[in-house]
Parts: sequence; structure tokens; C-alpha cells
Amino acid sequence: MVHMNLALDPNRTGHDAEALERNLRRLIVGQDEAIEQIVNIYQMYQTGLTAPSRPVGSFLFLGPTGSGKTRIVEATAEALLGNPRAVIKVDCAEFQHSHEIAKLIGSPPGYLGHRETHPLLSQEVINQHQTESMKLSFILFDEIEKASDALWNLLLGILDKATLTLGDNRKVDFSRAMIFMTSNLGAGEMNALLSPKLGFGTDSGFRNGKVIAIDSKTDSKIARSGVEAARRKFSPEFMNRLDKVVVFRPLGEDELRRILDIELGQVQQRIFNSTGDRCFVFSVSESAKDYLLAEGTDMKYGARHLKRAIERRLVHPMSNLVASDQVQAGDWVRVDYDASRDCITFVKESEGLPVHAMAEIVDTSAMLPMSAAAGATYETGKSHSARSSRRN
Ligand SMILES: Nc1ncnc2c1ncn2[C@@H]1O[C@H](COP(=O)(O)OP(=O)(O)OP(=O)(O)O)[C@@H](O)[C@H]1O
Ligand SMILES: [Mg+2]
Repeated sequence: MVHMNLALDPNRTGHDAEALERNLRRLIVGQDEAIEQIVNIYQMYQTGLTAPSRPVGSFLFLGPTGSGKTRIVEATAEALLGNPRAVIKVDCAEFQHSHEIAKLIGSPPGYLGHRETHPLLSQEVINQHQTESMKLSFILFDEIEKASDALWNLLLGILDKATLTLGDNRKVDFSRAMIFMTSNLGAGEMNALLSPKLGFGTDSGFRNGKVIAIDSKTDSKIARSGVEAARRKFSPEFMNRLDKVVVFRPLGEDELRRILDIELGQVQQRIFNSTGDRCFVFSVSESAKDYLLAEGTDMKYGARHLKRAIERRLVHPMSNLVASDQVQAGDWVRVDYDASRDCITFVKESEGLPVHAMAEIVDTSAMLPMSAAAGATYETGKSHSARSSRRN
């Protein structure tokens, strides 16, 4: 045996975990703690070190509406399974009465309608999105503070032993599942902590209805108030079974600006996907972005409000332009802001663009459809690999 005395670095992560982290940071703005915890748990799963007979991980996500609690679960599924919809969602508000639990676990044999009910949490359902290379399921229980007692008991069983017994006594195994639970508990207290009344207002808190940078003291107070609200509401049995409790922070102005860019990239992607080989590109000026941000900032609704502003001010008018044939395949539409009329304007910058030229204009994250990339309808007919450089 060779004596080595080699210091090891337990903070270094593996390649796959690094790739997951990179992908999550591309899709999720801020919320670093949540990203870190998901990456840690994923790595534990990958190295086979997850505790036996337990779910791969269990997370409670707290915090204000529109701060990314649901999105981060979808983004994890997107990064690991290639599909953001590969998440089994249970909206606990739909199961507030104990008899409604049959929708989740099916009714016992002999009950009326037993054969017709297909339990939402059967083994087939929870495994449905797993792939050859990724045997992981993502299950999201939304608004758990609204769950009935029956649902709580069921959840405790899943968290503790990774099993659920269906109405007909079949067992469902959750040992290859990541369980996420979300709640808005404590969001009111968090917003109150940012209120100017409490003395924040210069380097932390709200200004002109917007959340600006949060200093570290306020940040830890926010985290504490979230966890305390959860401890008041949920039983110790439940809290003790969770792997991680993460408090999502209210999104500030800079974060919303970055989310705006991500969302604009997704609108471009929708155009590519829905218009197929008739696709066009758009670019948004800084002043138009400022306008969308001003329209879409509401501290109560986080990024949800921003998404609504994008739909109303950008997507709806653009669908009119397509439907009225003002915009055709190969066009480049410039979106600008007209200060005199306080509105967004649409100008055709050029037309008949070859695919590679369109690819130069759009965001890096948008993928041109393969048919267009093959050059079916464009001047040059050049094939392009669908990746692109920056939006202006
Ligand atoms: N941190 C974030 N990074 C990137 N996008 C975000 C973020 N937060 C919110 N969004 C955007 O806003 C949308 C709404 O956010 P999400 O559904 O995750 O809110 P939530 O925290 O689950 O709110 P609720 O408590 O109301 O369910 C997302 O689909 C995403 O497009
Ligand atoms: Mg949500």
C-alpha cells in the first residue's frame, strides 16, 4: 500500500451535476439556493448515495407568487428529461376534501366506479416520462397548505417510506422520484419586510413599486420568516421528513430584466415552432424592453405579471401581423417604443432573409425548426445548424 496523504476536495461536483447547474442557471434567474440544493440531491442520486427506501429528494419551496417555484421544477425536468412538461403535478387545492383523494389513489374494489377511475399517482403515471438513461420522476404538490388530512397522511407515507398504497392495495414505489412541494406561506411577511415603512428603501426593499436589491440582513430575515411561517403551519413530523426547505426571494428589477430576455427568447421559439418553415424573427430595442418591464412589474405577482405584459403588448399584436399577412416567412420585425404615443411599434426591418441571417438575429436559446434550417423556402437555401448569436 502506498501512503498518499492526498487532500481531497469534497466541494467539487461531477460533470453531469455541473451540466445540470449550468442549464438551471440558464433558465432560472436568482434563487441560487434552490438551484444548489437540486444539484446536490441529483448528484447524490447519481452516485447511488441516496438513503434507501426514501424518495431521491424532497423539497419544500416557499415564497411569493411568480418567483420561480414551479418553473424550477419544470426546468429540472427540461434539463434532465428534455421536456419541461415531464412533471406530475398535484394541485392540492383540488383535494381539500378527503373523499377527493380517490382521484389520486383510486377507490377500493367494489366501490361504484372502481374500474373507471385511473389513479393519478399509479406507478405507470409516475414513471411515464422516465427515459432509458434517466430513471427519475418529478412530482410536484402545489399549494400544500390547502391539502386535506387524508392527503397529508398520504404525503407523509411517501416522504418516509417512498411508498403509496392505492385504493386496490397495489403499492407505488417513489424511490426514483424527486418530490417538490410549494406554498405561498410567509409571502405576506416577506413583502412586509421589504416595505419602506420598516425603514428599508435606499439599498433594500421597494422603490416606486419595484423590489430593488435586497441586502444580506433583509435577505436572511426573509428566509427566516418563510421557514417560521412553515413551522407554524406544518407539523414537526412533516418538516422533519423534508430534505430541504428553500425560501424563494422576491424578484428584483435586475432579475426581472433577465427574465424578460429569457421570455422573449421563448416567444421567438414559439414563432419557430408554430409557423414551421414560414418562420420570421423579431428583435426588441432597449426602450421597448424598458416599456415591457415598466408594464410588467408588480411586486405582488413577480414574473407572472411580466409574462402577461409580454402576451398583451407583444404576442397578441404579432399574431395580428401574421394573420393579416403583414409578416411573412423570412421577415425581420423590429420592435421599438414610441415615446410620443407611449406604445410599442412594429417595423419590418428586412425580408427574404436566409436562415443563417435569421439565426444571427435571434437569441442563443431559440432553435430554428429543422425544416427551415434545411433551407426549404429561403433565398440561399443554406443549411444552418439552428444555433445563433445575440438578440440586440
Ligand atoms: N426566477 C425565475 N427565473 C426565470 N423565470 C421565472 C422566475 N420566476 C418566475 N419566472 C417566470 O414566471 C412564470 C411564473 O413563475 P412560477 O410559475 O414558477 O411561479 P411560482 O413561484 O410557482 O408562483 P405560485 O406560487 O403562484 O405558484 C414562470 O413560468 C417563468 O416564466
Ligand atoms: Mg407555482
